[in-house]
Amino acid sequence: MSDLTLNLTQSRPESGNNLRNAGGPGLRTAVPATRPLREKEQQELKSAVHAELINRLDLEKLGEAQETRAGQMQLFALIQQIIGEQGVPLSSAERDRVAQEVLDEVFGLGPLEQLLKDDTINDILVNTCSSVYVERRGVLSKTSVTFRDNRHLLQVIDKIVSAVGRRVDESTPMVDARLKDGSRVNAIIPPLAIDGPILSIRRFGSSPLTAEKLIQNKALTGPMLEMLRAAVQARLNIVISGGTGAGKTTLLNALSGFISDKERIVTIEDSAELQLRQDHVVRLETRPPNVEGKGAIRQRELVINALRMRPDRIVLGEVRGEEAMDMLQAMNTGHDGSITTIHANTPRDGLARLETMCLMGDIRLPEKAIRLQIASAIHLIVQVARMSDGTRRITHVSELTGAYSDVISMQDIFVFEKEGIAESGKVKGRFRSTGIVPKFTDRLKAAGISVPAGLVDHSVEV
Ligand SMILES: Nc1ncnc2c1ncn2[C@@H]1O[C@H](COP(=O)(O)OP(=O)(O)O)[C@@H](O)[C@H]1O
Ligand SMILES: [Mg+2]
Repeated sequence: MSDLTLNLTQSRPESGNNLRNAGGPGLRTAVPATRPLREKEQQELKSAVHAELINRLDLEKLGEAQETRAGQMQLFALIQQIIGEQGVPLSSAERDRVAQEVLDEVFGLGPLEQLLKDDTINDILVNTCSSVYVERRGVLSKTSVTFRDNRHLLQVIDKIVSAVGRRVDESTPMVDARLKDGSRVNAIIPPLAIDGPILSIRRFGSSPLTAEKLIQNKALTGPMLEMLRAAVQARLNIVISGGTGAGKTTLLNALSGFISDKERIVTIEDSAELQLRQDHVVRLETRPPNVEGKGAIRQRELVINALRMRPDRIVLGEVRGEEAMDMLQAMNTGHDGSITTIHANTPRDGLARLETMCLMGDIRLPEKAIRLQIASAIHLIVQVARMSDGTRRITHVSELTGAYSDVISMQDIFVFEKEGIAESGKVKGRFRSTGIVPKFTDRLKAAGISVPAGLVDHSVEV
């Protein structure tokens, strides 16, 4: 550390890596002291400072400095000193900002850091290196954050994916990864992405939305939640259906909270994002193929393996393909109480997609048999949707009641009826029960779970 201190205070202004000496356009004279720096000048300044920093401290020293608070402060001071040496007139606020951004670049994810620090942001969507959007409370807006160029963006993507042992290049131009905080990342690069690398970060804050919070957000009502709680406790097989970002995973997480602590839960995901609060949870995640295109472990194999792990419950993050059939068979053969999600826009659509997925597997069953499997395996479909005002609502709780002459029969227990849009853009509507007494109340009674009150005459305006 003393070595580091020595190095940090050592000044080498003649090292030739600053803007004045770089043969550039003589920024000192070009920029009057009062005018804020233009984007391009700022990027140039940051690159020069960054390069000079690396020039003065080798990476090992940088790593050491980062570890302690004192080291970080010294580093920050050194960066400010280097900025000073560049001879670009800056206000002290600007200097601090540039120093912070250089620091973010060296240790963090560069321009993304400031967005990641903002807790109100749910999603970060990098469309091109110069166009970055964020979602706050369901509403998309463009930010002023930019990357230097596509190469810079690619470097940041590389940093993210290599941290979880994955890579992105021309032969694997699509990759899923995870940030330290659990946020889910997808990157796709040229040639598949036409205008340069695209990065989508779905944030999962350290604390997922609880069931109570979902009621506060009016994603559903108290009686609806009580019914879902009873359904989970009575080991009904539940599929949560919805579009991207509709809140499927959030609801799955909340519903899993109703599983008893005494049960052993196995979770299976493509990219781990569930945060179950129970103690007895074992988590599995798929593996993409290696450089030679080998070694991939798919969800299907994990579902089959999970059955040998003495699970009380299997929670499958999202059913996407061939594993659908294995999941249904598991549900039908004593592993009830399973929960999963599916990408679909209506409960019916969800069933149709499930059917298609079953056809993708290697178990060849006629369509009719598949429908029978679905009808007997799945008890409830909970549809979630993202409304035009950004709120998430449960729009249907539907019960499967069997299959008659080739058609799966289904009845809605709860629905959300949209009634209009207020001037403020807020979606108005009503949660209500359809008045149908669910068939599964028998199952609840058999399990000794009392049927929640207000099940059949429920109506709440929001
Ligand atoms: N009821 C809700 N109220 C507010 N935000 C929500 C709600 N449900 C989900 N979200 C937010 O929406 C984003 C997407 O949710 P997620 O459950 O991951 O969607 P999906 O799994 O359907 O793609 C997350 O940032 C999550 O915090
Ligand atoms: Mg999800």
